[in-house]
Amino acid sequence: MSKNNTWLIAALIFSLYFFSTQCVFAQTVWLDQLDLSAATQGYGMPGKNKSVENKTLTIASKTFERGFGTHAESSLLIKLNGNATRFTALVGIDDEVTGHDPAVEFVVLGDKKKLWSSGIMHLKDSARFCSVPLTGVQTMELVVTDGGNGNYYDHADWTDAKFETSGKGNIAATNPISSEKYILTPKASPKPKINGPAVYGVRPGSPFQYLVPATGNRPMRFSSKGLPAGLKLDAQTGIITGKLPKAGTFNVILTASNKLGKAAKTLRIMCGDRIALTPAMGWNSWNCFANEVSADKIKRAADAMVKSGLINHGWTYINIDDFWQNNRDSKDPDLRGKFRDDRGNILPNKRFGEIKPLADFVHNKGLKIGIYSSPGPWTCGGCAGSYGHEEQDAKAYSEWGIDYLKYDWCSYGGVIDGMPENDPYKVASFSPTGGSNLQTAIKPYKLMGDYLRAQPRDIVFSLCQYGMSDVWKWGDSVNGQSWRTTGDITDTWNSVKSIALEQDKAAAWAKPGNWNDPDMLVIGNVGWGNPHPSKLKPDEQYLHFSLWCMFSAPLLIGCDMEKLDDFTLGLLTNDEVIALDQDPLGKQATCQDTVGDLRIYVKTLADGSKAVCFCNFGQEKVSIAYNGFSKLNIKGKQQVRDLWRQKNIAAIDTRTSKLHIEVPAHGVVLYKFYPGK
Ligand code: GLA
Repeated sequence: MSKNNTWLIAALIFSLYFFSTQCVFAQTVWLDQLDLSAATQGYGMPGKNKSVENKTLTIASKTFERGFGTHAESSLLIKLNGNATRFTALVGIDDEVTGHDPAVEFVVLGDKKKLWSSGIMHLKDSARFCSVPLTGVQTMELVVTDGGNGNYYDHADWTDAKFETSGKGNIAATNPISSEKYILTPKASPKPKINGPAVYGVRPGSPFQYLVPATGNRPMRFSSKGLPAGLKLDAQTGIITGKLPKAGTFNVILTASNKLGKAAKTLRIMCGDRIALTPAMGWNSWNCFANEVSADKIKRAADAMVKSGLINHGWTYINIDDFWQNNRDSKDPDLRGKFRDDRGNILPNKRFGEIKPLADFVHNKGLKIGIYSSPGPWTCGGCAGSYGHEEQDAKAYSEWGIDYLKYDWCSYGGVIDGMPENDPYKVASFSPTGGSNLQTAIKPYKLMGDYLRAQPRDIVFSLCQYGMSDVWKWGDSVNGQSWRTTGDITDTWNSVKSIALEQDKAAAWAKPGNWNDPDMLVIGNVGWGNPHPSKLKPDEQYLHFSLWCMFSAPLLIGCDMEKLDDFTLGLLTNDEVIALDQDPLGKQATCQDTVGDLRIYVKTLADGSKAVCFCNFGQEKVSIAYNGFSKLNIKGKQQVRDLWRQKNIAAIDTRTSKLHIEVPAHGVVLYKFYPGK
């Protein structure tokens, strides 16, 4: 080979190398080529080239082959690392929701700054073109907001969506919230320990039933000191029953013992006109079974509450939600039948038969039972409601042995001025109209509240009207013990976050016997008839449960209790966390300080200590040295206890010390501060 040739070959090899490493081509990357499952959205699953209902993407009658079908509130984070030059897409609401009135806004964020927004879009608006330069942007977020009118039917499509990239490196969808499940609750000791609230309210003459919740090995023996006449404690089951003839306050010392030891706890029984002195704790059928509920499922839920050990931590109510009655539209023969008998008595559907034997079954386990109705002619699911039969229904509940009624506005908006043309079928099952007028809002709840109060039985009255007319201001006056403050929860981060952020406004009205209800828990296997593991990430579930306890919320498990995994059980059985919810002072936590996306909630407890929940609503881990104690009204020398881990972690002087706090994205740390060196 000549010298010249050698040079030529060397030059060729070098230029090939240079070409392959330095010289790259611009490339198109389609949005649907990324892992869309990283998105979080308000309902359903992210659709790759499909709509939320898994159909062809269609905006204003135009179909699109490629894109991302999602549901507000929606967020997809994409790591660009400076590799993209432009994003383009055509966006709009999918035609599949015709007949409804959705509104959304599409927003593109680059490194947290708004780069583009569609403006509010409605159904049938033609697709809007989005073209956003991205040079230098590291992280991009595609967001769909609910357009300001709630996220009902907000099926939103990013179609023909693609990036122009430099071709130098990858771009990838990412979800910064950890999926790692970790259990913090220590295992219960085999020695006896009595859990549950420190106070219990009952009215004179009402049947009394209280199970002493205790962890520890069985067999266990129960005894008491100071139990007033009229009540007796079953030494084997730990169930107290009977009746108290007269008002009075009784401090009863309860004892539980097994082979390994003995434990005692004082329970203050307050016999008077107030009940639910601590928020109700139990389970409700709606979030897992919805319209599939049956007597069999209720019995199995009661069995599961016992077998899982939840009963030993104070979980008590087994509540039947909608669909125990007959239904106006269902094709299922089990749900079709007369709504009431000739005397007007409500008739359960074929899946339930008689309610009394079911109530007895639940009571025999030491648990309590709840039921559901509406002041309108129809429940939200189109089953028979109580309109015109309120007194009869209240009596029936009492005779059956019902302990709790959830009373849901649903169709009542359609009968505010009476039944139109005397025809209930002219009334829609859901009509929240009228609820913003205070007198109209109060009327149906006062009616049922008075009838319940007249029964010879304590029935917790749970108002469900989504917070209309500031229900927290008047719920007590209609004999309510709790009231929903919001619309329905779903197992999405956006739902939990937006409900959590709305609670402070009602906090001042929470007190023993009166509780704000931010809706049921969405942890474990939930799914409204199609159960699936909660879409909330583990940290989001810790935040959800911690905050609901801080809020003194009624705690209603919404999952299938036959499918509890260790993680979910850990969340539901931490007695120190539950004790915040059940604290007898009944103060609801409010946010007292913020550090960026970190919100710091404080709840004053009966013993004078304070529970503090550091909640990270942001997408990045927070790591700070905190010293804002004066804002939390925490003074002097304090012991700091980590409630999830049930461990003292620090002793601080709030004037001088800083507390190092690390909170995972969408997670919490939950501490109790109490005076001491
Ligand atoms: C409403 C309530 C839910 C549930 C359903 C039943 O949506 O808010 O909690 O009770 O009705 O149809």
